[in-house]
Amino acid sequence: MIDDLNSRYGLSPTHSEVVEACKIIEPCDTLDMGCSNGRNALYLGQLGFNVTAIDNNPGAIDMLQSISIEEKMGNIKAQVYDINNASLSEDYAFITCTVTLMFLDPARIEAVIADMQQHTLAGGYNLIVCAMSTEEHPCQVPFPYTLKTGQLREAYEGWQLIKYNEDPGTMHNGAKLQFATMLARKPG
Ligand SMILES: C[S@@+](CC[C@H](N)C(=O)[O-])C[C@H]1O[C@@H](n2cnc3c(N)ncnc32)[C@H](O)[C@@H]1O
Repeated sequence: MIDDLNSRYGLSPTHSEVVEACKIIEPCDTLDMGCSNGRNALYLGQLGFNVTAIDNNPGAIDMLQSISIEEKMGNIKAQVYDINNASLSEDYAFITCTVTLMFLDPARIEAVIADMQQHTLAGGYNLIVCAMSTEEHPCQVPFPYTLKTGQLREAYEGWQLIKYNEDPGTMHNGAKLQFATMLARKPG
């Protein structure tokens, strides 16, 4: 089982939306934005995706590099990078950004999303999962940034929305926390 690798290294299971996305996206050049110590990058790597994994936490990147060397996974490249720079240098067929946007500088979100879109190949995919704060469910976690109703959908106008929802979930303390979940395909 693929998640055995994550548990062997004490990592959480792969994000469920990454697992779902991999049911329709073929292995390709992929960027994992805010990869932490690599639960999603390792999953993608095992499926044969060619993964660039970026995070501004050098400790997390060191750990992912050590695991990929130990496991001889030459298709995972882990790099320290500040996503707020919004200055990607390569293009990808799949960019995944799960539960990361809400930790970024709010003033940089527009530029970060525009940069992701620009560096996605025609026909390629963006996966975003991000916390929201709405009138119905004000976010009770002090994230620097949260999305508003419909905001992510608007940012991806012109892309094919393969999946889009703004569903509330329940946190361990019983509080409702709303997330925007989107898998979008860039026009070919
Ligand atoms: C909640 S974790 C999500 C990790 C991963 N995407 C996942 O689904 O497990 C958020 C990650 O974003 C990273 N991060 C926060 N701000 C960042 C920034 N400005 N540039 C790069 N990474 C950042 C953190 O270091 C952390 O690893």
